[in-house]
Amino acid sequence: MNTRFSRRHFMGSAAAALGALGLRPATALGAGIRPPPPGLEPRDPYDDLAKLSSNENPYGPSDKMMASMNAAWKYSNRYGYPDGDILEKIADHHGVGTRNIMMNAGSGETLKVAGLAFLKHDEKVVGVEPTFLTVYRAAAGIDADAIIRPLLGDHTQDIDDLIKVTRRNYRDVGLVYVCNPNNPTGVVVSDDDIRRLLDGIPEDIPVLIDEAYHHFVQDPSYATAVPYIKEGRKVLVTRTFSKIYGMAGLRLGYGIAPEEMIDEMRVYSTGSVNALVKWGGVAALEDHESEAWVRDTTIALREATANELRGQGFEVIPSETNFFMVHTGRPASEVRAEFRKHDVAVGRDFPPMLDYLRVSIGTEEEMKRFLTAWNQIFPDGMTATGSSR
Ligand SMILES: Cc1ncc(COP(=O)(O)O)c(C=O)c1O
Repeated sequence: MNTRFSRRHFMGSAAAALGALGLRPATALGAGIRPPPPGLEPRDPYDDLAKLSSNENPYGPSDKMMASMNAAWKYSNRYGYPDGDILEKIADHHGVGTRNIMMNAGSGETLKVAGLAFLKHDEKVVGVEPTFLTVYRAAAGIDADAIIRPLLGDHTQDIDDLIKVTRRNYRDVGLVYVCNPNNPTGVVVSDDDIRRLLDGIPEDIPVLIDEAYHHFVQDPSYATAVPYIKEGRKVLVTRTFSKIYGMAGLRLGYGIAPEEMIDEMRVYSTGSVNALVKWGGVAALEDHESEAWVRDTTIALREATANELRGQGFEVIPSETNFFMVHTGRPASEVRAEFRKHDVAVGRDFPPMLDYLRVSIGTEEEMKRFLTAWNQIFPDGMTATGSSR
């Protein structure tokens, strides 16, 4: 394991301070429970599972992020406190103003807020399937409809089709959702196609472009959609600190959009981002070395694993993210159950691609465990008939 990413314990410094005063932490004192002798801590079964199912970053926050968050404990009891100017830093990062940013507890919250704001009068959301479902779920939660279109045979999003259905339903459409790169396929929409979509639909329809996996993309045809916001288009781009920066459990994400769109969304947002997370976010944006290390390591492991499966005859969809999809030739639900017996958690069902398995990229050790399990589950590889049995 790379030691730069060894996790420091948040409570370490607090416990040390109590120790210096001759005191022990309240949990150990009050309950009369003695901590176990070093090396005999109870085993946590959570740690045994190779978690390759939720597209997380297996390394967690970098040392610089941990130091920044640990230094922010002193703000825990305050409502107002220095927050490292996180909003300004995010705005500067994209060359926009702070009024163009909405910060949330994860970009999932931003997606939900967008759904509530732009579909509230029974409007419809237009998008593809399979994709990330939060916006569709937000729509369902307020009884708004979704117009969901299939992917093309090469797993790309059919931009002509999205333009066509949006124009045809112009009066009813409140939002167009494009996940780029798409989860679960890992496939990008090119910048040309994003522009074509924006040019092809009425300009007053908001387009949400979810760039959760932006940092992993290498395909030169892809570009962030942020410049379209600066052109004055009705575009909302969402980003997250969960993936490249390893903050999924800490919750930090944001949306970038024209001021009027952010204002429309603001009433639905809770704005519940805590002090530690804000300081973690500031450090993340400045820690370019760690960001590059996570990206390069993830991509190298993704390609090595995907190529191993391709070598056995399996179709692996070329991915621009920290996960890939492989055609198992049998129900992925069965394959997942097999993997669980090996303490490896992978994917979930992504209808209609029910015989494709989504695999998130973990550490080198986790990917070895994945391949060992794979070779036992598929001892004969993929046959010429496309069957894996
Ligand atoms: C495409 C996409 N968007 C948004 C999210 C939400 O991420 P978070 O709420 O952790 O920022 C995810 C998480 O997996 C995702 O895959």
